[in-house]
Amino acid sequence: MLVLDTVNQYYGQSHTLRDLSLDIPTGECTVIMGRNGVGKTTLLQSIMGINPLASGRIMLDGQPIQGHSVEARPTLGLGYVPQGRQIFPLLSVQENLDIGLPMRPRGQRQIPSYIFELFPVLKDMLARRGGDLSGGQQQQLAIARALVIDPKVLLLDEPTEGIQPNVVAEIAGIIQKLNKDMGMTVVLVEQKLPFARKLADRFCILDRGQTVAQGPMEALTGDQVKAYLTV
Ligand SMILES: Nc1ncnc2c1ncn2[C@@H]1O[C@H](COP(=O)(O)OP(=O)(O)O)[C@@H](O)[C@H]1O
Ligand SMILES: [Mg+2]
Repeated sequence: MLVLDTVNQYYGQSHTLRDLSLDIPTGECTVIMGRNGVGKTTLLQSIMGINPLASGRIMLDGQPIQGHSVEARPTLGLGYVPQGRQIFPLLSVQENLDIGLPMRPRGQRQIPSYIFELFPVLKDMLARRGGDLSGGQQQQLAIARALVIDPKVLLLDEPTEGIQPNVVAEIAGIIQKLNKDMGMTVVLVEQKLPFARKLADRFCILDRGQTVAQGPMEALTGDQVKAYLTV
């Protein structure tokens, strides 16, 4: 279980996450929803140690993780797919993937073969530059890169943003495989409701840095959608 307990975070004077508490059950897919600017990305960045907390605790399987640096968080089993993908455009696909290798245990520093089974397109493009891939392929590369460390928890920030519908369906299938077949815990930030409904077991809605609603996905009501999600 990944637990956020009364987390507060600031950008300068700006109080972004406010007494935010959230339980993310192991093996489930939890979707974080909410309008632009409510703090979804900040929340994931705080879990990854990119944003320091002013107060509160983040615990993974009972252990507090704040003492671990940004560089060390992936080794705790946290795989992160940032918003906008952020692959390295001038590096090859192979080089983008190899970045995670030093974080693997000694003697196991090769790309796990299941990654190429999940993303056969990447296998054919290992020598291509990341920046020459299509948006959908770059998103697949970003997910593959996060998987290189064999994460227990995969955090994805709007993986379908700006991606063509056929690739969106492919990415949905891959996230489902990781979550339901391989048992990986998934934390998904997503604004597209049908995508969220298809994948998630649980939802959490943020508004102005606070959790305003959470529960099993099927319990999300039309009133909540109207109040917190649609424009
Ligand atoms: N690096 C930053 N410095 C200052 N303010 C930021 C920074 N990143 C985000 N913000 C602000 O924090 C709030 C939450 O942003 P963000 O977490 O990106 O929201 P979301 O992902 O839900 O759209 C917004 O008001 C945004 O403008
Ligand atoms: Mg965001």
